[in-house]
Amino acid sequence: MEIGFESFYSKRARGMKASEIRELLKLTQNKEIISFAGGLPNPGAFPAKVAAELTKEVFENHAEDALQYGTTEGLPTLREAFAENYSAHKLECSPDQILITSGSQQGLDLLSKVFLNPGDTIIVGAPTYLGALGSFRAFQANIESVPLDEKGFRVDALEEKLEALKHEGKRVKFIYLVPTFQNPTGVTIPEDRRKRILAMAEEYDTLVVEDDPYGRLRFEGDGVPSLFSLDRGVGRVIHMGTLSKLLAPGLRVATLMGHPDMIKKFVIAKQSTDLCSNTLTQFISAEYIRRGHLDEHVKFIRDLYGKKKNIMLQAMDDFMPSGVEWTRPEGGMFIWATVPEGLNTVDLFSKAIERKVAYVVGRAFYVSDGGEREMRLNFSYASDESIREGIERLGKVIEEAL
Ligand SMILES: Cc1ncc(COP(=O)(O)O)c(C=O)c1O
Repeated sequence: MEIGFESFYSKRARGMKASEIRELLKLTQNKEIISFAGGLPNPGAFPAKVAAELTKEVFENHAEDALQYGTTEGLPTLREAFAENYSAHKLECSPDQILITSGSQQGLDLLSKVFLNPGDTIIVGAPTYLGALGSFRAFQANIESVPLDEKGFRVDALEEKLEALKHEGKRVKFIYLVPTFQNPTGVTIPEDRRKRILAMAEEYDTLVVEDDPYGRLRFEGDGVPSLFSLDRGVGRVIHMGTLSKLLAPGLRVATLMGHPDMIKKFVIAKQSTDLCSNTLTQFISAEYIRRGHLDEHVKFIRDLYGKKKNIMLQAMDDFMPSGVEWTRPEGGMFIWATVPEGLNTVDLFSKAIERKVAYVVGRAFYVSDGGEREMRLNFSYASDESIREGIERLGKVIEEAL
């Protein structure tokens, strides 16, 4: 007899739908396709040799602890190493403000678990990080969005939104932002806007979530203070950082930072999720950071990705038909392109796949409507030659469609 699984699922699980976007992304797995679709670090840049040496050392010196359960908060030496490293890079913090998570994606999940009842209101950017939407949707949030411009979150629209929601009697639990080299657009919110956002968060008594995987990947221009540092320890900002883009996503090592009192709640929420993050990779990461390898490696990939970004921008200048527009980020991993009126990036996608080049359709990054003419292009993963070749192919796809 066939089992009707559907009737067993929770309301929450019934609401979870396989994303059409993930299905599209499967098509990009074909090795012949030049993929600008994933948000992946360059595999050639992984510091495999150092990682292998450190792993051997960890097994020789700390096997009993590294193979054991760890504390939910995270390995003390790793929390200390992060606090020291972050503080040295203008992100002042102490170990007791840090929770180690299994990737920032777990941070997003915990955030939802800790703050969201079904129907609770949050505000995100239009567009915003797809994986965050996945988590907020899974927890049945009422997701409101605010448009971006070339300087990120439009604060006038944010204020209107906050005011309108207040009038409707809806409390906003948090504003979720990727303020630096945003996924997907690559844009960065300048300091004055960050201060306005914080002031509004205070006025309307809401929290701010600063998801920051890319902030250290600045190739040019001046740094902008993080929202977390602008908050000066008040506790209104929750910051998420990760080793995924700086070192390797396979480690699944990330940080969630907030007021120590709030961190205690997150620890309880994490306990029932996975007891603790991977102890072995926490040991390896702690040594990697403590010995200065992280700072060295970040310099190396900044150089590497900065060149790749320039190669992509040059290829866009050379091969994109007129009418196509794109962002020129000073760091991160993504360029956001807009095709001329009349075209649609979902329709273009199958033609791009035929020509063996892939991107992510803009629509994926919007809560509801939007992004029809937009696409996200990643420049960190492909080889230099493939970047140029791939953009040339994409240019042809767009030109033919025009
Ligand atoms: C904005 C943003 N947040 C979170 C994540 C998830 O990162 P992690 O590998 O640390 O789970 C990503 C990965 O692409 C991201 O772009």
